[in-house]
Amino acid sequence: MLSTSPLESRSAAGLVRRWRQASEPRELARVYDELRSAGPLVPTPWGALLVPGYQDCRQVLLDRTWGTLTASWRERFRPGWRESASTVGLCQTPLQQDPPEHTARRRPLAKALSPRALGDMADSFAAPLALEHVRAFADEVRAEGVADVVGSICRPLPTAVLAGFLGLPKDVDLEWLATESLAMVRIEELASPPSVVRRADEAATALLERYDQLLAERLRQPEGDDLLFHWAKGDPSGSRYLLLTLFSAGVPTTAALLASLAHALITRPALAERIRQEPDFSDRVVDEVLRWDPPGRLVTRVAGAETELGGRVLPEGQVVHALIGAAHRDPAEFHDPHTFLPRQAPQPQRLLAFGSGLHYCPGTHLARAQAVAFARGFAAELPGARAAGTPERHAGPSMTDITRLPVTLAPPTTSDTSSTSRTSSTSTA
Ligand code: HEM
Repeated sequence: MLSTSPLESRSAAGLVRRWRQASEPRELARVYDELRSAGPLVPTPWGALLVPGYQDCRQVLLDRTWGTLTASWRERFRPGWRESASTVGLCQTPLQQDPPEHTARRRPLAKALSPRALGDMADSFAAPLALEHVRAFADEVRAEGVADVVGSICRPLPTAVLAGFLGLPKDVDLEWLATESLAMVRIEELASPPSVVRRADEAATALLERYDQLLAERLRQPEGDDLLFHWAKGDPSGSRYLLLTLFSAGVPTTAALLASLAHALITRPALAERIRQEPDFSDRVVDEVLRWDPPGRLVTRVAGAETELGGRVLPEGQVVHALIGAAHRDPAEFHDPHTFLPRQAPQPQRLLAFGSGLHYCPGTHLARAQAVAFARGFAAELPGARAAGTPERHAGPSMTDITRLPVTLAPPTTSDTSSTSRTSSTSTA
């Protein structure tokens, strides 16, 4: 039966506070279970609702009644929002747009990133680049004893892949691009402190200036077949936002996936052993990492009209946070959800890590190609890789981000070389 009654918010406040303080996947998994027990819609002190169930999250992503927090929505409900350059920038990306603006901004991105346009780019460019990065990292670990996989591979690799994909000049400072793109998307963490907002705003301003320069410089060079030239020639003022979208949507997410993957391989050595023997197993490991702790753990939407969700009637303007991370731990959808267990179809097809519906991630193909090549390369080049300390993480429940993961090499033990068994390659939260 549908109800329009106000939701009980007092009892939920403590639970929501615990959720906001969690960032480690096992800790979050416990809070996700509590949220699910509290009901399909959990009220927050800021008036939004948390949506922890898989089917409800899917409905929010697929039902066109739900829109994003667009510039016109912010104009009405968030006075002063234009003071934040990163928010203004994000509202020019398809991530924060509804049709018709969304359709126009998404079209060139989806076209450039389609498997057809990418052709064999994933196999001929992204995969060898991943292997190159892994080999250099293996040399670094052997020489230094310990090295940080996040700084050496997880952030530089997706940045270099996008730079190559666009045809950016060789002298572009990729480390700077990665750092600023990460700083900018921190604005998406719920209720970021003022220092983080300031840093995100500075990053957005600096990135847009740099993209304008790159587009202008490219037009002064001879014509070519590179994407940067096509975009610069087409619509330079819109293209600055295409570049902003690509790096802000593509680098932090892929870096987070690669870091979680590295963590899985060094803490569950039987996985790496099985990938060495059966390289196709890497696809299942990548899917399970995406399920276990997706890079983007929530998606925010607002109701464009009165609508029904989780057995209740919600008013127009209701904001919800669809908790993709919690949806992936929903026992109604995933068998034994708190066990890390590389799964077979149909479970991987149900993942919401790349979203669903109108905003479905167009970079899926490119991100997966890097992750699979990285997993295979890492397993092959770094047998005996181990954690040399606990991973450092970005604090907050909205996005996964291991910011530092030191790796060392240990002599192989018998458990590394035994075949993957349920006990050796799985773990519970
Ligand atoms: C593991 C890596 C990645 C993950 C987990 C991921 C996840 C997502 C998710 C969940 C969305 C939908 C957000 C929403 O519904 O509000 C999205 C959208 C998007 N992603 Fe990705 N992404 C990844 C990599 C990439 C890469 C490599 C690129 C570009 C090369 C990319 C480009 C985009 C774009 C342009 C959108 C906006 C689509 C739209 O709003 O229509 N992503 N991504």
